[in-house]
Amino acid sequence: MFANPLKPWQPSSRINAPSSLKLASPKLSCPSKLLVCTKGKSCRKRNGPKLFERLKILIAENDLGAHFELKKSDCFGLCKHAPIVKVKPDGLSYGGVSKSDCSDILLRHVKQKKPIKRLLVKKK
Ligand code: FES
Repeated sequence: MFANPLKPWQPSSRINAPSSLKLASPKLSCPSKLLVCTKGKSCRKRNGPKLFERLKILIAENDLGAHFELKKSDCFGLCKHAPIVKVKPDGLSYGGVSKSDCSDILLRHVKQKKPIKRLLVKKK
C-alpha cells in the first residue's frame, strides 16, 4: 500500500506498490520533471500518449503534483527503446515503459529516490 508523501502515514489504495518497497525518508531533494515522448513516431506507436495520460492520472489521484511536473515531449533520439520517459534534473531515461511501470516510477522517485534499473536506457 502506498502512503501519500504529502500526508505521511495516510494510506492510499489508489497505487498498488510492490511489497518489496520500503519507506524512505520523506524528504525530497527537489521536484522532478517527467518528460514523456508523445510526439516521436516510435513512442506514439508504442503508447507514449497513453503513458502520459496514465502518469497524469496517477499524479493527480495521489496528490503528487508538488513532486512531479509532467510534460509531453518530442523525440529524444532513443526511439529503439520506445516509449521513453525522461526524468530531470536527474538526467535519467526510462525505456520500454509500460502503463504498469508508471506507479513504480512515481513511487521509486518519491519514496526511495532511486532509479528503476531494469528500465534505464543508456545513451551511446
Ligand atoms: S520517438 Fe520517442 S524517443 Fe524517438
